[in-house]
Amino acid sequence: MVVMIVITGASGRLGKELSKLFPDAATPTHRELDVTNEKNVSRFIQSASPEVVIHLAAMTSVTECETEKERAWKINVTGTLNTAKASAKAGAYFMLMSTPCVFSGKGPFMEDDTPYPENFYGLTKIAAEISVLAISTNSVIIRANFVPKEKWPYEGAFTDRWGTYLFAEDLAKEIKKIIDLRKTGVMHVAGDRIMSMYELAKLCPDSEHVKPISYTKYLENGGCRLTQDMTLGSNHWQKTTISA
Ligand SMILES: NC(=O)c1ccc[n+]([C@@H]2O[C@H](COP(=O)([O-])OP(=O)(O)OC[C@H]3O[C@@H](n4cnc5c(N)ncnc54)[C@H](OP(=O)(O)O)[C@@H]3O)[C@@H](O)[C@H]2O)c1
Repeated sequence: MVVMIVITGASGRLGKELSKLFPDAATPTHRELDVTNEKNVSRFIQSASPEVVIHLAAMTSVTECETEKERAWKINVTGTLNTAKASAKAGAYFMLMSTPCVFSGKGPFMEDDTPYPENFYGLTKIAAEISVLAISTNSVIIRANFVPKEKWPYEGAFTDRWGTYLFAEDLAKEIKKIIDLRKTGVMHVAGDRIMSMYELAKLCPDSEHVKPISYTKYLENGGCRLTQDMTLGSNHWQKTTISA
């Protein structure tokens, strides 16, 4: 079956929104296409012969990546390599979704700032980025912070961790524009407001229950190191308004 677009990780938080904007895309589930299986990925993309591959599949839990490093590397780095190589072979434009967690220190971070990840998740994502850039110039890497526009899934949210957050639906619209323009290289999609995770949680529907919590205290209690300032800026893309 020949398709225009393939989306990996389409069942995830961002994938659900992108699938709505690309209703004709092929959206293989993890069971149907495990991106760590090089042969299957190559076969799938060769037979779909897409013009565009949107690669979202990843292990996204920072804690899980820290405790299961081998699996995290296999999914986030080898999985990206497999998908990017197969896409390049098929002549497809490739998009990798990445993250401000490739940085540490004080933002706003611009596209060409030097990465220095705080944790293993961030390390796998920067390794994936470099792999993509080495494989194909017909590719784009998009970094952004986002959450789905739904009830905040935790009891608390950090008051001292910041970002230029967007809802997944806002980000998906920008990604579609970037793909339609076939932009290449690294691009940041930044929200127009710098806010704490707590402020973000309060913008989510049905989230009156959310309590303020402290990243500093979480670290003192043995929590995994996170990028505290996830603020992004961009030299290549306009700021996007969060649809609060
Ligand atoms: N969420 C954020 O705040 C954030 C911020 C910046 C960048 N990103 C990046 O954006 C992308 C999407 O994030 P998300 O939050 O939407 O992710 P998510 O909700 O955690 O979904 C991850 C998706 O990847 C699939 N997947 C995992 N391992 C796979 C494998 N081996 N083969 C094929 N599919 C696999 C999952 O399928 P199953 O559930 O069936 O395993 C799921 O569909 C990721 O690359 C992430 O690193 C996320």
